[in-house]
Amino acid sequence: MTAPEDHSFDLLPDDFRRLGYKVIDLMVDALEAERNEPVLRQISGAHMRAMVDEPLPVAETPADDVIATWQTAVAPFARRNGHPRFFGYVCTSADPLGMLADAMASAINQPVTAWRSAPSATAIERLVVRWLDELVGFGGKGNGLLVSGGSAANFHGLACAVTMAEQRAGLPPGSRHRLTAYISQEGHMSMYKALQLLGLSPDHVRVIGVDEQRRMPLDKLQRILEEDRGSELVPAVVCASAGTANTGAIDPLLGVSDACKDHDVWLHIDGSYGAPAAITEEYEWMAKAFAHADSLSLDPHKWLFASADAGCVLVRDDEAARRTFTLHSDYTAVTQTDPVERYAFFDHGLEMSRRFRGLKVWTILKARGVDRIRAAIQHNIALRKHLDARIREEQRLQALGSELSITCFRYVPRGETSEDRLNAINRTILETLIAEGRCYMSPTVLDGKYALRACIVNFRTQQSDVDFLADEVMRLGTAL
Ligand SMILES: Cc1ncc(COP(=O)(O)O)c(C=O)c1O
Repeated sequence: MTAPEDHSFDLLPDDFRRLGYKVIDLMVDALEAERNEPVLRQISGAHMRAMVDEPLPVAETPADDVIATWQTAVAPFARRNGHPRFFGYVCTSADPLGMLADAMASAINQPVTAWRSAPSATAIERLVVRWLDELVGFGGKGNGLLVSGGSAANFHGLACAVTMAEQRAGLPPGSRHRLTAYISQEGHMSMYKALQLLGLSPDHVRVIGVDEQRRMPLDKLQRILEEDRGSELVPAVVCASAGTANTGAIDPLLGVSDACKDHDVWLHIDGSYGAPAAITEEYEWMAKAFAHADSLSLDPHKWLFASADAGCVLVRDDEAARRTFTLHSDYTAVTQTDPVERYAFFDHGLEMSRRFRGLKVWTILKARGVDRIRAAIQHNIALRKHLDARIREEQRLQALGSELSITCFRYVPRGETSEDRLNAINRTILETLIAEGRCYMSPTVLDGKYALRACIVNFRTQQSDVDFLADEVMRLGTAL
């Protein structure tokens, strides 16, 4: 008799342990590299592809060989977002404890669809959402869920807004184009995208020009809301920002929330980046506005130091989320009657199978505690102010806008007034800076001016790193 074939992928415990320890060593190396290696090693697309490209593997490859490729081709060419001199986009330094939690989440592989399928993961995620709600002063009942990031959170919040506006106005199917949304010209692209996907007519997305601090001016918002109210249109949602991606600008949230109340319009706040700053004394005023918002986005993977991906949307009225996302199917029907046990995330959001993101966020909040997180955020803000001071001191640097932990500036050679040449010079500075690998910033364009943009959401960054950045820009600018 032939022995039954073994189709199992299981590793023997000792093999798992051996490979696991090896991987932990690689993770330690990767964390060391975040401090000691270049922020980004240059490699061409062709070279990168050549390092990993091969035909679809049909036969087995020993796990040690696969892991060797992580070591030689993957880790070295990862941009080191946790490097103390990484100042690009809004990418956090990830808490190593969160990384361990992420590995554990994979080990127990919970598709967090509903309590029925993942009791502990559901309990942890619901707790985490309640904690995040309390943390930033939203003051809901912990309604909401974790999603992939700010774009998904904005989509969820705006989907609820649109559903509720449609229902309140008693619009017949196919009339969504009558809904209007209000967003500043600095509002994140993901909100524009969500409104488009949700079926609003592009003409009815009211783009409001910003003031000199790149905030939505209240008087303009009120005027346009009044105009639209007196027409065939149905004002549905104001999309405000608590920290824009460009300069960290914060819309006048309290006034915006009053305007929304006056006009019975949903207030969605995109706090994907900036909301956690509400735990600091300087920005706690934002929490007072969050307490009036209908929905709020905030990303643990931005300023709460979680590795990607982890976003969160809070929705005050759970019924709004249910009306937007609940659909019956026989294969998902929940039979439990206990309110805790019958909870299903797919009745409150878009996704069905969802990664157990809650574990890393829970681990970070529990292990670090709010006081330490607040101190890290405050330090980031203080570093931004230090950089602002450096920019003011250096005659050749020009400030272009800053708030929270973002600052934008440019290098202006003596006597240079051509905007085209200034844009070209600053583009060259940025490209050289990135190519040299000692620091990393990302660009933006403000009123036609190419800007060097530094964002500090990093618990490793110190004042010497910020000074180094300013010195580097001066060095490269002078060399040009
Ligand atoms: C203000 C703001 N909103 C939304 C987003 C989108 O977030 P995500 O990249 O997590 O989808 C970003 C990204 O940086 C952001 O800064």
